[in-house]
Amino acid sequence: MRVLVTGGAGYIGSHTARRLKASGFQPVIFDNLSVGHAFALVGMDSIVADLADRDALSAALRRVDAVMHFAAFSGVSESVRDPRKYFHNNVQTGLSLLHAVLDAGIRYFILSSTCAVYGPPSRVPIPIDTPRLPINPYGATKLALEHALEAYSAAHGLQYASLRYFNAAGADESGAIGELHRPETHLIPNALLTASGQRSELQIFGSDYPTPDGTCIRDYIHVNDLADAHILALRYLHNGGESAAFNLGTGTGYSVLEVVQAVEAVTGRPLPRRVCPRRAGDPPALIADPSHANKLLQWKPSRNLRDMVSNAWQWMQSPTYLKAQT
Ligand SMILES: NC(=O)c1ccc[n+]([C@@H]2O[C@H](COP(=O)([O-])OP(=O)(O)OC[C@H]3O[C@@H](n4cnc5c(N)ncnc54)[C@H](O)[C@@H]3O)[C@@H](O)[C@H]2O)c1
Repeated sequence: MRVLVTGGAGYIGSHTARRLKASGFQPVIFDNLSVGHAFALVGMDSIVADLADRDALSAALRRVDAVMHFAAFSGVSESVRDPRKYFHNNVQTGLSLLHAVLDAGIRYFILSSTCAVYGPPSRVPIPIDTPRLPINPYGATKLALEHALEAYSAAHGLQYASLRYFNAAGADESGAIGELHRPETHLIPNALLTASGQRSELQIFGSDYPTPDGTCIRDYIHVNDLADAHILALRYLHNGGESAAFNLGTGTGYSVLEVVQAVEAVTGRPLPRRVCPRRAGDPPALIADPSHANKLLQWKPSRNLRDMVSNAWQWMQSPTYLKAQT
């Protein structure tokens, strides 16, 4: 099956595109490289264009049977400062893509959604049927696409999976691709940048949360476990599975201090750190209840926190990362 991977030069899309290829699919990456990286396109069938380019998009859609849509902006704080940028790219351009998909008669669509659609959870682990009440523009843009998919599926028969990722982490075990965001806002790469001396200290936002050690707890999920879930979701839809949303996390949470300890253990270096005030809108704990994905997709993440940290550390010392970073 041929699959268009929008945002396939970015972090999660590049890992998924490679695993699609390794699993016998034919991925075609579509990315404008606004945030993504040319190194992710090496050896891959790719189109460098913006999703708003209708001609490029319809030509690409003629070549595929399914779409995996990763291309979006994903900074929560930036979405608060510049919501227009987010509604434009994530909703307006996302809807144009969806309409082009319907017009092209493509039947399968997989959306990169997020646990940010839930807002602060009333229950942890978060069940899939938790009401979606996002508290930032980023979460609202993803929810808008979820709503569109639900309506288009009911009206036009589009088969979709909305995959609500928790915290993606780690890198491909080959060391050839991995995470490189600018600015880097994620905890594990920032902790590793501190361990390597490129940051003077790791900022820890809040140590007085109602958690065992007082720091925030998140559900970290290896990027290749996420990639595998996309392939299982596509197979599920192709085999007649009903359109649905799925939480993608391990179901186990780690506090910031537990991540710090894992980084110190993997790198063998002490991590300078400073406790800063809490950030607005950071819930104490976000942990997935992934039972829906375990059951319907037969998806079981197989990599743990130490794997995520050591694969990311290996990637950050690779020639590709060091070259792209400069
Ligand atoms: N990283 C996470 O932990 C996480 C968690 C939840 C959800 N998500 C979602 O998963 C998806 C992928 O996340 P990521 O971390 O890999 O992001 P990323 O920024 O690394 O990748 C996004 C890619 O999309 C491309 N892109 C953006 N707008 C485009 C456009 N208009 N036309 C063509 N290409 C465009 C960028 O160049 C980039 O390569 C995003 O939709 C994000 O919201 C990520």
